[in-house]
Amino acid sequence: MKIKNICCLGAGYVGGPTMSVIALKCPEIKVTVVDLNQVRIAAWNDEDLDNLPVYEPGLAEVIREARGRNLFFSTDVESAIDAADMIFIAVNTPTKTYGEGKGMAADLKFVELCARQIAQIAKNDKIIVEKSTLPVRTAETLQTILDRTGNGVKFEVLSNPEFLAEGTAINDLFNADRVLIGGNQTESGQRAIQSLVDIYAHWLSPKQILTTNVWSSELSKLTANAFLAQRISSINALSALCEATEADVDEVANAIGTDSRIGSKFLKASVGFGGSCFQKDILNLVYLCRYFNLPEVANYWEQVIILNDYQKYRFAKNIITTLFNTVSGKKIAFLGWAFKKDTNDTRESAAIYVAEHLIEDGADIHIYDPKVSESKIMADMRYLWELKGLTEQRITSKLKQIFVYQSPMEALDQAHAIAVLTEWDEFKSYDWEEIYQNMYQPAFVFDGRNILDDEKLKEIGFEIKGIGKVNSFQLEKTSIF
Ligand code: NAI
Repeated sequence: MKIKNICCLGAGYVGGPTMSVIALKCPEIKVTVVDLNQVRIAAWNDEDLDNLPVYEPGLAEVIREARGRNLFFSTDVESAIDAADMIFIAVNTPTKTYGEGKGMAADLKFVELCARQIAQIAKNDKIIVEKSTLPVRTAETLQTILDRTGNGVKFEVLSNPEFLAEGTAINDLFNADRVLIGGNQTESGQRAIQSLVDIYAHWLSPKQILTTNVWSSELSKLTANAFLAQRISSINALSALCEATEADVDEVANAIGTDSRIGSKFLKASVGFGGSCFQKDILNLVYLCRYFNLPEVANYWEQVIILNDYQKYRFAKNIITTLFNTVSGKKIAFLGWAFKKDTNDTRESAAIYVAEHLIEDGADIHIYDPKVSESKIMADMRYLWELKGLTEQRITSKLKQIFVYQSPMEALDQAHAIAVLTEWDEFKSYDWEEIYQNMYQPAFVFDGRNILDDEKLKEIGFEIKGIGKVNSFQLEKTSIF
């Protein structure tokens, strides 16, 4: 079946960029991205491309070319579903915050709503594509809902998980390592797979397009994220040992990364991983393993999350102990709030948890991030504290310990310590001499991303503490012999 009309439910970090690239590369296909969130759709339609709801290098150029040609953003969900031959579901699948599976399982209510709405509206056969990350065997549930509540039309459900990384989304979509398409092993299932293969074949070579059965495809996405996060937790675990033994984590990472069996990517020690996916997907994997009565497997993967929480806590605790065991009333400047550079996404950012810990100890947190707004930062902290059940009074009082700036120099002025939480490139090129002059002494820098030139900073006079690094002011010389 030749696809002429695509609809995507969900205009977020995945739906927006993926559909923009499909529209750009397939000018003969009309692509409509719909969302219930009117503000988000208005932002996708904004004349000023600086106001797009998602910041990604290269995205504005793609939108400029395709929008209004064959790419449309709309809140008219019904019409878009009705007109489409192929419907992508790219809605959010957060961790459940209530009831059965709370804090572990993926909340599939948005996906279920999509399936019910599609079934209700569809008047001709359609291919439904799972783009959201879903627990293995969700396609079965979707198929049941579609078939039982539909108008007798035929639905083929495909799994096509998204592997893009925020911050490099457009490049990842243009030059994907692979796209994965899972479908039923029936004749109509294979035809549906081929329709989606034909779309990606507009710009990817056949060897970049993998096809599997539905369950392998669904599970591969959770597995990929679990493996990636595991590498970060592994190097972070060793960063703690490096700090205790005078080994340097970057040197260790480099030494092991040159082994072709290990590889050099994803071996950068840091304050801990964030983002909307790693934690949620591993928790989901752990939940699934427990559900299928595999407690040893569940415990193995859960440790990746436990270690990540430990790393964030360790970073915050280190700031407190170094600052003479209290940060009460002290100004701690944060460089960065986004969970990684080149994105405005702050979901599960390590900065949130480090801030929480320092605020609990009485610190004032002064934040600068090139792409994250004050309202977003306040909303992140409010969400966390609401989830923890804090009273409105306590939340309001804690929010008064947070200050957000448009300029880095203002955020850093008269600080007792600086903490680097995001690896934005611009932080490296600041005038560190000037920053030093305007700080309380001793001037501490906690580089949670190991991006600053620590030799240069030490020369200026800073006391710098990286992750997994030897530090003059911190190291306790103890012997194990
Ligand atoms: P997001 O929260 O940015 O976007 C989801 C959008 O879906 C929201 O704008 C929401 O309003 C909309 N929505 C919810 N229900 C809807 C409905 N019934 N009809 C229309 N729109 C609806 O989420 P994001 O980050 O785009 O993630 C989407 C999925 O993709 C998740 O399952 C996630 O795990 C997965 N994923 C995310 C990646 C990322 O880097 N953010 C990478 C790979 C996969």
